[in-house]
Amino acid sequence: MSTPELVTVTIDGRRAEVAKGTGLVETALQAGVEIPVFCYEPRLGPPIGACRMCLVEIEGMPKLQAGCTLTAQDGMAVRTAATSEKAAEGQNATLEFILVNHPLDCPVCDKGGECPLQDLTFRYGPGNTRMIFPKRTFEKPIPISPTIALDRERCILCYRCTRFSESVAGDGQLVARNRGAQSAIATFEDEPYRAPFSGNVIELCPVGALTSTQYRFEARPWEIQNVPTVCAMCPVGCNVSATTREGKVKRIVSRNHPEVDEGWLCDKGRFAHSHLRAEDRITEPLLRVRRRGFSPIGWDQALDEAERLLRGAGSRIVTALSGSETVEGAYGLARLLRGGLGAHSAVLPEEAGHALDAYRLPLSAIRDAELVVVVGDDPVSERAPIVDLWIRAAQRGGAELVTAGPSGTLLAAPGSAAQVCRDLAAPGSEVGRRLRESARAILIWSGQGGQGGAHLAALARALGFDGKEGCGAFHLPATPNGRGVAAAWAAASDEEAENPEPISLLIVSGDEAASDPNVRALAERAEAVLAITMFHALAVGWADLVLPATSYLERDGTTMNLEGRLQRLRRAVMPPAPDELAWLSQLAERFGIALPPYPALVFEELSPVAFGGLAFGEVGERAALPPRAEAAPLPPLESAPPPPTSDGHYLQLLRYRPLFSGAAVERVPELQFQRPPREVELSADDAERRRISSGDEVSVRSNGTSTALRARLDRRLAPGVVRIAEEHAGDLHALVEVVKA
Ligand code: SF4
Ligand code: SF4
Ligand code: FES
Repeated sequence: MSTPELVTVTIDGRRAEVAKGTGLVETALQAGVEIPVFCYEPRLGPPIGACRMCLVEIEGMPKLQAGCTLTAQDGMAVRTAATSEKAAEGQNATLEFILVNHPLDCPVCDKGGECPLQDLTFRYGPGNTRMIFPKRTFEKPIPISPTIALDRERCILCYRCTRFSESVAGDGQLVARNRGAQSAIATFEDEPYRAPFSGNVIELCPVGALTSTQYRFEARPWEIQNVPTVCAMCPVGCNVSATTREGKVKRIVSRNHPEVDEGWLCDKGRFAHSHLRAEDRITEPLLRVRRRGFSPIGWDQALDEAERLLRGAGSRIVTALSGSETVEGAYGLARLLRGGLGAHSAVLPEEAGHALDAYRLPLSAIRDAELVVVVGDDPVSERAPIVDLWIRAAQRGGAELVTAGPSGTLLAAPGSAAQVCRDLAAPGSEVGRRLRESARAILIWSGQGGQGGAHLAALARALGFDGKEGCGAFHLPATPNGRGVAAAWAAASDEEAENPEPISLLIVSGDEAASDPNVRALAERAEAVLAITMFHALAVGWADLVLPATSYLERDGTTMNLEGRLQRLRRAVMPPAPDELAWLSQLAERFGIALPPYPALVFEELSPVAFGGLAFGEVGERAALPPRAEAAPLPPLESAPPPPTSDGHYLQLLRYRPLFSGAAVERVPELQFQRPPREVELSADDAERRRISSGDEVSVRSNGTSTALRARLDRRLAPGVVRIAEEHAGDLHALVEVVKA
């Protein structure tokens, strides 16, 4: 890479040396000078110069300039309001102008106390008002969605929200209507703003025009605490602050990790926190009592029961893990079950293994790529939403995106991702050739299949990615901490697992495992079931002993994201019951096993085996990515049998797990509108052959099971394939008939 040309700029008499082309706002910051801004936000694309808050005087230019639209040039002499009376007057006038119609309702505005308009008016604005006319008012608040309210009279028309919607998220649903003084922010055709990243506009809005319906009137900034932690609702692991008041989580905001999330969150991570207070939350242990259903019991009795179940089962135990446990929680279970009882059999979450560690890059490297190839059946935005934003950023920078899957730019049959990898590695592949030649190419596996990481690593190796620093590969696992849980489970013992038959005890750890139909099938075969879950509806009815589980917002410990970055979870609020490590440590003691109840001490024990001896305190608030591993021999690749394909009449069913699904989302009223409609996606060919149009009611059938859904045509879907969200696909088999109802 060539070294950038350096230029020298003077700002308020201070010199700054920066790369030519650096924005003036950043250059000033480097010199320790503030240029105040409202509309300027480099993450949204080029500056638009809408608000004029950043006025500065530039030597040699007769008029004040919008500093945010300028870049550093050699010899430039800049004066801000701090040293230029003209600039100070200009900014003062800008603020007076902005406040002409802005209500002074700071005492009741949710942004009050953390509002850029308040802060900049305090620092740069007029001390009194000359306004004697009534200000403009609108109906308020306008619900632009169940999660976002718009108080239109507060809007200062900075266009941050519309630029986010149009350029960053690409949903195009927020628009500026009318012109001049009549301009107003609205949703497209007044439809609710239904998009996975909508909540980011609340954080972007520099005034209280866009607010969270969950947070409105819930707290004042001086009453809250912000706890730095990470979101553990998907494998991205966005860095967040959990805002708490009086022991309750009130909102989630971004803590911008530039390599992981760039300050964006998806709406699941932002709004799903209220599941903590769900009505069916389990707060005390429950024991099955014959004929009388379940009865709450005390913790001493619960531990007696758990001990009895474990002793009775010996090593004939199977543990189903969710992949949402903390590393320490999973290790606690493993120490007791593997180390103490010799119970090695587990249903572990699908994860990438170590094969991809040799092609590791931060997620932000996707933005700098020139070619991104995604293989697999699942849309990236449903599995790891922020990765979708990184891909969009790459495309804005000119990168080419190739998606190889059932609705991709390169059509591939469902379940054929491993074959796609082999095809791309073959000498005749055109995409393969471009990947080989590129210095900045990214591979992403977004699909099911346990060996995804290994298949992708084999492709990366075949393409010559070894030693190319700009080329890397990512596996998008289905669970938030699958990698960490697998590492913790492995760290407790080297013994191979033997599947017990019959299963004396099934231990179900976490809500995802409890709602997994495969785990439920195992439960039917087990003589007894111990379930650790948060909600009544999940396990009560089929478990023998239910112990209350905690949420990631109630836990301390670590979690590992899809990059392989170990991140620190901090307890934001106390759980309504003891956390897993607390009772596990007591239970372990009954078996003579010393398991500390504190995550820091548990981490200390497992870190030398699993994380190279990293100290708990070194995980840090903005965790670093470990360096790339040396390329190692790849595990043997297995070919899974291909799924049955369509014969024209029967269509191949492709199930996917939507982002807005799962036990937490189901318990958040404001997120229900984001859940997938009851619909089946069909290719245009298949729909036409059956005389089905978008919106028609259809019946989807297989082997005696049928379900009524609404049809939606997807022009990009491969013929012979239908796609249905997991929660609407029920018991349908791999091949289905679709007929007009
Ligand atoms: S609603 Fe907020 S972010 Fe959008 S234009 Fe108005 S002030 Fe800016
Ligand atoms: S992308 Fe994933 S980690 Fe980030 S906020 Fe959404 S659910 Fe949480
Ligand atoms: S910040 Fe420069 S014009 Fe708005």
